[in-house]
Amino acid sequence: MSKRRIEPELFKEQFGEDFLWGVATAAFQIEGAHDADGKGPSIWDVFTEKKGRIKGNHHARTACDFYNTYHVDVALMKQLNIPNFRFSISWSRILPNGVGEISQSGIDYYNKLIDHLLENGIEPWVTLYHWDMPHALDLNGGWTNRDSISWFTDYVTLCAKHFGNRVKNWMVMNEPSVFTGAGYFLGIHAPGRRGLANYLKAVHHVTLSTAAGAGILRATIPQANIGTTFSCTQIEPYTQREKDIAAANRVHTLLNRAFIEPILGMGYPDATDLPVIRKMEPYIQPGDIEKMGFDFDFIGIQCYTREVVKASVFTPYVGASLVKAEKRRVPTTDMGWEVHPPSIYHMINHFNSYPQIKKILVTENGAAFPDRVIDGKVYDLQRKHYLQSHLRQLLKAKQEGARVDGYFVWSLTDNFEWAEGYHTRFGLIYVDFETQQRIVKHSGEWFAEFLQDN
Ligand code: BGC
Repeated sequence: MSKRRIEPELFKEQFGEDFLWGVATAAFQIEGAHDADGKGPSIWDVFTEKKGRIKGNHHARTACDFYNTYHVDVALMKQLNIPNFRFSISWSRILPNGVGEISQSGIDYYNKLIDHLLENGIEPWVTLYHWDMPHALDLNGGWTNRDSISWFTDYVTLCAKHFGNRVKNWMVMNEPSVFTGAGYFLGIHAPGRRGLANYLKAVHHVTLSTAAGAGILRATIPQANIGTTFSCTQIEPYTQREKDIAAANRVHTLLNRAFIEPILGMGYPDATDLPVIRKMEPYIQPGDIEKMGFDFDFIGIQCYTREVVKASVFTPYVGASLVKAEKRRVPTTDMGWEVHPPSIYHMINHFNSYPQIKKILVTENGAAFPDRVIDGKVYDLQRKHYLQSHLRQLLKAKQEGARVDGYFVWSLTDNFEWAEGYHTRFGLIYVDFETQQRIVKHSGEWFAEFLQDN
């Protein structure tokens, strides 16, 4: 008979009075209203139009209809005692062509949302880029074009001007390693570009844009709390053979170092850790290394799983392949990702090893499980356990002295999960995508109780 360890109960107070609690979302995944009031198409609007790219050919034309019914979700957040809301701005909603003509109705929408949050005592946390570049800019190469730096800084200037008097907390980019890897190397996310040259150019321009965008926020919003977010994952070798250990180091360098280190002013990691970095050289102009650094107020880390890797001669550039969770017979989420809470502990410590980082917030963590509505309720015990076990690991790191000062659940509601469409559900709140009805899940009820002031 298997014995189940009874874990001690968690209390908000254990994390300290100043610890930040919130939920995270992204414009394309929730807003819908894809062409309302003059919004221009984004690369994701265009990418999802073509059959065969998204599971079930799902699209996000309506998604959670957050654009039209945000007050419903704000009321739910209030009901769930959630004090901080992370959302992103859709670039093509306020600049339909990416540059030039401004859509006043787009600006009005975000003004209304921000005001409504503040009126309800919920602090807005704005992400400037959560993967949805205006399609018009992609026609000019998107992030592969070095002009993307000035397109982006113009957009950031506009956001700072219109929202900076009320929004204090800003995140410049969301997970550059994911959107450049999936969207510019593998072609499985928008805009569907492939190949090493596209990828390396995009990586470099995104890195430069992150620092440049942050610089604009600093110069224009005196009180701004400025961060940017990175995806991160504990990487372990499949065996203790030297070649698997070396493969794990290359993957760790690519996923956990190559994006944060330039931002910290350290430049790209050395090619001895990841030889393909040498191929970046043609795109680096004099002065770029200095320009990539920025003194962020906080760094957001987003950790969902662990990866186990082995050496592989068939995988170009990194020479490593992932050993899938199902092959390792470990518990997984609906995404097929291993449930491995110690990963977040390791990643908090990894980011703590950089003395330049002032503050670390977990800006996303959460899980997809196959939720069922039974008698109007969703009893998602697995998600509750996932969140609790990750919080225990975070607390362990914090009690050992690591800097970590916040935790945002991904996500408030079920939403459009990129290439997975609506098949995978990450919400604390269930969404019936036919009727737009919401049901607070058991995990949401637990989180509300946890957040309640005693
Ligand atoms: C992204 C989210 C995504 C979540 C779950 C993160 O990579 O920022 O947009 O929905 O993980 O896959």
